[in-house]
Amino acid sequence: MTPQSAILPEQHRHALFIMLRRRLGRRADAQLARYLAGLPARSRDMLASRPESRFASAIGVSADFWPELYGRERPQLLRAFPHIAGAIHPAPVTNTDLFLHLRADEADVLHDFAAEMLEHVQEWLEPVEVMPAFRRHESRDLTGFVDGTENPAADERAAVALVGSDDPDWAGGSYLHIQRYVHRMEAWNKLPVLQQETIVGRTKQSDEELPDEDRPRTAHISRVVIENEAGDELEILRQSMPYGVPGGDRGLYFVSYCHTPLHFERMLERMVSPGDDGRVDHLLNFSRAVTGAAFFVPSIERIERLASQMSQ
Ligand code: HEM
Repeated sequence: MTPQSAILPEQHRHALFIMLRRRLGRRADAQLARYLAGLPARSRDMLASRPESRFASAIGVSADFWPELYGRERPQLLRAFPHIAGAIHPAPVTNTDLFLHLRADEADVLHDFAAEMLEHVQEWLEPVEVMPAFRRHESRDLTGFVDGTENPAADERAAVALVGSDDPDWAGGSYLHIQRYVHRMEAWNKLPVLQQETIVGRTKQSDEELPDEDRPRTAHISRVVIENEAGDELEILRQSMPYGVPGGDRGLYFVSYCHTPLHFERMLERMVSPGDDGRVDHLLNFSRAVTGAAFFVPSIERIERLASQMSQ
């Protein structure tokens, strides 16, 4: 099974994130399913016409919308974005049905691909949010810290991100979570670098993990590094990018792919809710989630099969 092309690559220069929802009273029909089934081929055509752009795409479907496209067949762990009990930082849930993740080294191809798609699906779906994002120098987030260092590398990326033989019908697919974070840049920039480093849990310039004794339990890294019973770290593949404009809303468009939704859910819980150790993530004093959504990103074969699935 072939994963959709936006899941695994190393960073591109640009991304475009699009959330869509069903128009009131509209249901997916065979015509919409056929169009969605054709998206991987359109994506390949775009890449073939502009190879230097390294264009890649992925389309994800929410748990709510899923039955309209796939009926009763579903990935074992498909579920909605979690409501986190006892959360003291916001983790809002956005009402959305479909997600389009586009990425490339040139922004114009993202615009062209998205414009054509939005035009074709507008009868059924309306955009909730269309957000361009960009890579900064050295892959630094707007906080100034390098983002993505501890991401899985090489072959590990597929092992972390893709469903495998434990759910064979959906192998090559991936559980996708997104959250748009708005940073409080002025407040953040007033902090001395040492304090910023304590909050993140890594050094700013040299991008190294702080030694355990200097890293409080409230540091971002302390919240999201979680071990299972066997002592293995829970992993996700992050494809987050900075977004926004100076003077306006800006921050991190968080994106993660994984073979299970559980890892993201556990990490987010430990960031926002004072559970087992009474701590939360102090990074969230300087950044606030304003959207949140969960999707399943089927393999290319399972997306293409939609063309025949609904006409049967
Ligand atoms: C305001 C939003 C966020 C910012 C600015 C941010 C920033 C960072 C930075 C700077 C790092 C260290 C470098 C690296 O390894 O990539 C990092 C690591 C990480 N973050 Fe975040 N992050 C945010 C939200 C999240 C969320 C929502 C999750 C998951 C629910 C998450 C999960 C992780 C994980 C798993 C690591 C790697 C930890 C390790 O293995 O050392 N982050 N993040």
